[in-house]
Amino acid sequence: MRIAFFDSGLGGITVLHEGIRRFPQEDFLYYADTLHVPYGTKPKDEVKQYIFDAVDTMMKLDIKALVVACNTATSIAIAELRLKHPSIPIIGMEPAVKPAVQLSRLNGRRVLVLATPLTLRESKYIELVNRIDDMSIVDSLPLPELVEYCESLQFDRALMVDYFTAKFAPYRLEHYGTVVLGCTHYPFYRQILSELLPKHIQIIDGSIGTVNRLGELLNDRSLREGSGSGMVQFACSDNSGEYRLRMKRALDIYQAANT
Ligand code: SIN
Repeated sequence: MRIAFFDSGLGGITVLHEGIRRFPQEDFLYYADTLHVPYGTKPKDEVKQYIFDAVDTMMKLDIKALVVACNTATSIAIAELRLKHPSIPIIGMEPAVKPAVQLSRLNGRRVLVLATPLTLRESKYIELVNRIDDMSIVDSLPLPELVEYCESLQFDRALMVDYFTAKFAPYRLEHYGTVVLGCTHYPFYRQILSELLPKHIQIIDGSIGTVNRLGELLNDRSLREGSGSGMVQFACSDNSGEYRLRMKRALDIYQAANT
């Protein structure tokens, strides 16, 4: 039985990478909802139905745990997914606002959360910030275009420099100590972000927390078999062979940049 990772498209590969690194003796299924990517710019109810349909499909594919490696999908559907599929552990993403605010207590600077528009307007995110941001230091910036760039494996340096420079122009970056990557597509751009942002800014994401939680739940439910070999099967909702190759290429790119 495999551990499944699910995203609208390529973003969940940044979380899958952490899963493979941590559990090399497991096998994996990566499923992208290519018929409906991107999620973050669409209406909530529409996206919710896409997620339910995708997870129904994945449940038939011999999986023992599901990582919803998509902040947008987690924000709008994780609770209902767990109710609907109680037979396996379902782990979601959470923008790393809590560790970012803790860091700010030490460095006295603000926090900037980057995520999709849908994630940022969801009550799950708003409640998270209200609960944790007692010093009112968290700001949010939607970057929907970055998902589109990632989906087409667009990493052209000059283009990305122009894009980020325009997006960050309204912000006084010297006041920020932490940037949170609140969409699983965004870590593909971590390197360029770290070159562009002031050197004191730390860039963090939620993938390590999610994979830690996956490990705890696999142990609790005695699901660590250890008989796999880190093999990944790629699948997608439009069954495109070209996209399966793109997923493999994206994993290669991300692994090469992060090992
Ligand atoms: C998207 O499909 O718009 C990105 C999903 C995410 O939040 O990771």
